[in-house]
Amino acid sequence: MDLIKGDENIHELLQAQAHVWNHSLRFISSMSLKCAVQLEIPDIIHNHGQPMTISELALALSIQPSKVHCVYRLMRILVHSGFFAEKAGQSGKENGYVLTLASRLLLKDNPLSARPFLLAMLDPILMKPWQYVNAWFQSDNDHTVFSTAHGSTMWDYTAVEPRLNNFFNAAMASDGLLAASVVLGKCKGVFEGLKSLVDVGGGTGTITKVLAEAFPQMNCTVFDLPHVVAGLQGSENLKYLGGNMFEKVPPGDAVMLKWILHDWSDDDCIKILKKCKEAIGSKDEGGKVIIIDMIMGNQEVDEEAIETKLFFDMQMMVVPEGQERNEQEWSRLFVYAGYSDYKIHHILGLRSLIELFP
Ligand SMILES: C[S@@+](CC[C@H](N)C(=O)[O-])C[C@H]1O[C@@H](n2cnc3c(N)ncnc32)[C@H](O)[C@@H]1O
Repeated sequence: MDLIKGDENIHELLQAQAHVWNHSLRFISSMSLKCAVQLEIPDIIHNHGQPMTISELALALSIQPSKVHCVYRLMRILVHSGFFAEKAGQSGKENGYVLTLASRLLLKDNPLSARPFLLAMLDPILMKPWQYVNAWFQSDNDHTVFSTAHGSTMWDYTAVEPRLNNFFNAAMASDGLLAASVVLGKCKGVFEGLKSLVDVGGGTGTITKVLAEAFPQMNCTVFDLPHVVAGLQGSENLKYLGGNMFEKVPPGDAVMLKWILHDWSDDDCIKILKKCKEAIGSKDEGGKVIIIDMIMGNQEVDEEAIETKLFFDMQMMVVPEGQERNEQEWSRLFVYAGYSDYKIHHILGLRSLIELFP
């Protein structure tokens, strides 16, 4: 069989094969990082205070001698992916590993740590649905991919599986402080003058706690499913409320939807947005919905940003049953839900803040 024609064809064929291999093994990048985080390698290197040689690292990890070269191989791939760097040691000592900005974001004690997000996304509960995507495509029922794998939707499952509820809430909370400081630094005016704010689907309230402190005159409500807010303590101007946003959204001058609408289908988003419209004041009274979410095809400056948004879109398809949207898709939702106008602030890296007016 004449499968290969000419030199150029061989070169292209081998490149294509390498491309297939690369994509077949891409999970190794994520799983190697997860392993390093579970072994607390970023924390160990951070506490060492100077470039850490492979033997120092192996000793700190209590790795048996026959596996030391495996630690070296783990670190080599993580240097390649930008999570560690190699630096010359002092006075002729061999090279040692140091942290990069990305691995600083994985330190346990960093208040901005993305560690809970990483561990949640790679937890077997959230990875299991990926084994069922093809079966889901070929099935003729209305189940989500998650429920095809687990027998109930993601949100129902969090109510009965405390481990999922805890690690998912922690993952969401881990984004809150960074998001809050950027929002306050770049878009404080969005919240100025509001007497009340309802954070719908606000999780454990990390971002709203910061907003409540920054605006002591603003009464804040963190509204989420009852099992998410159960037992959480509020403060002078912050309270927690359990409920279902598809039934009623508590009233407030403004409603915030951070990382909510990308979890849902267009029909469900329109229902949520209509409930929010009933909850807020008129445009003249300063009523608005503040959305924090991604906008596809928007301001991507590099290949990694484009790819990360595509990853999020697929994750939304497979885990909750939502999607990431481009501006046209967002604006269609806003019109169908009866809103008059919106303003986009490109302030949060891959995500934007959208002010939506009734
Ligand atoms: C992706 S998380 C975002 C959490 C938080 N806003 C943040 O950005 O960190 C989605 C949140 O929506 C909540 N949620 C899901 N269904 C809900 C419902 N029917 N009513 C109220 N909250 C709901 C979940 O419990 C979860 O906390």
